[in-house]
Amino acid sequence: MAVPERVVTNADLEKLVDTTDEWIVTRTGIRERRMAAPDEALTDFALPAADRALEMAGVAGTDVDLVICATVSPDRIFPATSCAVQDHIGALDAPAFDLSAACTGFIYGVALGAQFIEAGRARNVVVVGGEMLTKIVDWTDRATCVLFGDGAGAVVLQAAAEDDRGVMGYALHADGSLGDLIERPGGGSRAPISHEMIDAGQHHITMRGNETFKKAVRRLAEVSEEALAGCGLEPLDVDWFIPHQANRRIIDAVGQRLAVPEGSTYVNVDRYGNTSAASVPIALDELNRAGRIQPGQTVLMTAFGSGLTWASAVVKW
Ligand code: COA
Repeated sequence: MAVPERVVTNADLEKLVDTTDEWIVTRTGIRERRMAAPDEALTDFALPAADRALEMAGVAGTDVDLVICATVSPDRIFPATSCAVQDHIGALDAPAFDLSAACTGFIYGVALGAQFIEAGRARNVVVVGGEMLTKIVDWTDRATCVLFGDGAGAVVLQAAAEDDRGVMGYALHADGSLGDLIERPGGGSRAPISHEMIDAGQHHITMRGNETFKKAVRRLAEVSEEALAGCGLEPLDVDWFIPHQANRRIIDAVGQRLAVPEGSTYVNVDRYGNTSAASVPIALDELNRAGRIQPGQTVLMTAFGSGLTWASAVVKW
């Protein structure tokens, strides 16, 4: 993982919009988040995250044959951020593309990378999830600006030597009919960049929070069960549950519905806020570097986001 140095607390936000630390903590569990500097962009974190993942895996960048970057807040609309990662790590001529599935993007990326490996079309796949949502949030909208943070995380996928290790299964879903629940309407071909579009605030994230909340709880629980069942597992078999870190209340509600073992749910939303596609790999890295995931343990990763999209992956560590 790689995150900006600057920490923005709820007290800092109290000076910016009509909000309180108490409101933010009670409704979301968020206490602080990381925020990129004005001159920092996604690749300032996506590249070091990829470097660190390769170093941990003991894989040379030149041996990487596929790079996937999940993001909806790239440095530039095009070319893809994954191409900058590919160049930086020296994965000469390897295919590279970005994946747009918002907060669910990292898990979509892991599923895709695993498919390439299973099909024998790639040996070493770098999957990055990274976002700079503080750059596209409306800093006058208290209902959204308090929620998000910046950062990136990455993994290296390789074929496992044994059949009972690695990405054991996954479930991926989308419902495009609810595309307007969380969106950034401006800046594309529907509302191209113009003074009028910006005056209308369409270049910012808009969200119907309450509806999103309800959908998220239901879908996160459903898709987790589906992915586990696909591997012949039950929630009680999970050693580590890594849910998308959007909101503490969503995480608690999903944990209750799913009935994963006590103490298995990892939570860091209090320190990072919602980092979208980066939230699951950041949490995974924290757990792993702390030595808390043991070989052979079952890790369940689940996310939900704009699209709507939702997905879950089961990994035998
Ligand atoms: N500080 C103080 N008050 C705030 C506030 C803030 N930062 N943001 C909203 N409010 C106010 C609203 O204006 C509203 O006031 P009103 O009753 O006078 O109109 C009140 O709080 C309740 O707003 P509501 O949106 O109904 O609150 P909520 O309980 O649904 O919580 C969210 C709002 C955003 C925290 C919650 O809906 C949520 O977490 N949704 C999911 C968001 C998410 O995770 N999205 C990403 C998914 S990937």
